[in-house]
Amino acid sequence: MEAHIIRKKFLEYFGAHGHAIVPSSSLIPDDPSVLLTTAGMQQFKKYYTGEADPYTTIHPLLRAPLGHPNAVSVQKSFRTSDIDEVGDETHLTFFQMLGNFSFGGYFKKEAIAMAHEFMTKTLGLEISYVTIFRGNDQVPKDEESRMLWNAHGVTDIREEGVEDVFWGPTGTSGPCGPTTEIYCKNGRGNDVEIWNIVFNEFFFPGSREELLSGASGKKLERMQTPGVDTGMGLERLSMIAQKTGTIFETDLFAPFIELLPVELSDRQKCIIIDHVRAAAFLLADGVRPSNKGAGYILRRLIRRASVYEHLNNIPVHVFDAILHDIVHEYGEFYSELLCENEAIRTEFLAERKKFGNTMTQGIKAFSAIALARENGAHGESLSGEEAFNLYQSFGFPREVMRDLCRDNSIAFDDAGFEEAVKHHQEISRAGQEKKFGGHGLLLDTGELKAADERELAIVTRLHTATHLLHAALRKVLGLDVRQDGSDITVERTRFDFTFPRKMTPEEIAEVERLVNGAIAGDFQVTKKDMAYEDALRSGALHFFKEKYPAEVHVYTIADPKSGEVFSKEFCGGPHVAHTGEIGAFRIAKEESSSAGVRRIRGVVSGS
Ligand code: GLY
Repeated sequence: MEAHIIRKKFLEYFGAHGHAIVPSSSLIPDDPSVLLTTAGMQQFKKYYTGEADPYTTIHPLLRAPLGHPNAVSVQKSFRTSDIDEVGDETHLTFFQMLGNFSFGGYFKKEAIAMAHEFMTKTLGLEISYVTIFRGNDQVPKDEESRMLWNAHGVTDIREEGVEDVFWGPTGTSGPCGPTTEIYCKNGRGNDVEIWNIVFNEFFFPGSREELLSGASGKKLERMQTPGVDTGMGLERLSMIAQKTGTIFETDLFAPFIELLPVELSDRQKCIIIDHVRAAAFLLADGVRPSNKGAGYILRRLIRRASVYEHLNNIPVHVFDAILHDIVHEYGEFYSELLCENEAIRTEFLAERKKFGNTMTQGIKAFSAIALARENGAHGESLSGEEAFNLYQSFGFPREVMRDLCRDNSIAFDDAGFEEAVKHHQEISRAGQEKKFGGHGLLLDTGELKAADERELAIVTRLHTATHLLHAALRKVLGLDVRQDGSDITVERTRFDFTFPRKMTPEEIAEVERLVNGAIAGDFQVTKKDMAYEDALRSGALHFFKEKYPAEVHVYTIADPKSGEVFSKEFCGGPHVAHTGEIGAFRIAKEESSSAGVRRIRGVVSGS
């Protein structure tokens, strides 16, 4: 059965059983405590915790069927934790997660009955075995699930512990609970975990790491709205239904793998297709390559694929063809791929091109190291310092260094690399402190630094000027411009933003003109405290990658005469009250910061 039919059957089955069909949410989650969407339940988290009522304030679609607040979705999901496993039978970075959800509606009995019916009747597959929670000091053994599976004729029921069959929470706190998992045999006769059925009975006021370690002393709390949350990777399910040995042999990957030269190893082919597919989906959701957060994950994917492309002399049109086919094939279900087709291709190619030069040099540097190893020079592994140098000087992500080491039979010293990164961070921090005289700063928000009252006044003016600059750049260069970093000292503001090329002198002049116009108009700066969700909805600019608290401040700069808003941003302050206080603004320098990122140094009179 083809994957697109399985996807359709899943939605139809649960749609016919009282579930509203809800579209996938973005890979960039609303939940600021999570970098990327890792599970289908994330968009519904608020219905479990009681922050939103599924009967009244629900997603409009959820009201539809029979008044039951149940949902079914195919969720775009991304798990960085699996990046090193890509290329085996079952792991991916990006995948599509089939899930059905109940918020205070049905529970174990119905969830297990529907899962059993869908697997065995709708798809005609055989369940190899299931697992249930064996219990611990806080939660009893899940005897109810055992009984229910037995009643459906499933007899191989295995008990597992909290690491394997207790799900969640995602982010810094959230719903969680015992699970029961379904295993099926793939085309090689290996048992594969297919479907995770979570009984969300608890809320844990901490992260999953805290839950597992138990060291925080935090306790599970019973949830007001216990529910069901399930997750089943379409890719793995297709492997079972199509009786293949790996997910990459299914129709979700095979047509793209065929576009790669046959000489590549299977592992290399899988990594390339996984990473290109994942990059296309991240780009479609607005992520752009950068050095932080989701942008850095995207950058790593494109760079790793590009290294393989380079090392194997893959002709340049091959990646173009793969991207094209992925966008069109998957675009039938995920229309955002088609809408963003142009941006996906341009951004992917731009990052690949920018990385090109440094990559070639980096590979040369690595070859020199590898050669020295063959001559028995410096022990066996790539040392932490050597790895740090490749990372720092040539922009090689960790996976790339691991791949290169693996292909050259050199060990990669993970701990040594970590240590070298930490060591260099300390040096750079010490350098910063020295620059500021080693004594306490009056203000250090990470973005703004000032040693005394005089400096504080200047950086505050520069800070408001930075908001004007950000808004003016978007007005002149387009809405693809996004802040990528900002650093303000008494001498200047240094602002990084996503933009693929050098600005023209006319564009620079126009940006200066707009900023100085706003200063001459003496616009009013107002601050409002808002709930994070409301602030997002208000359209205020924010950092995609930043983790924000539940309450945020939004600074608006508006013309008091016309009421027209010039700039609106999430921000911690401080700012001047009126833009007239800033003084004349000038762009002192515009240059490249990193691939696809430009850097502006701006000054105000007296800074
Ligand atoms: N939320 C269930 C899962 O991700 O497996």
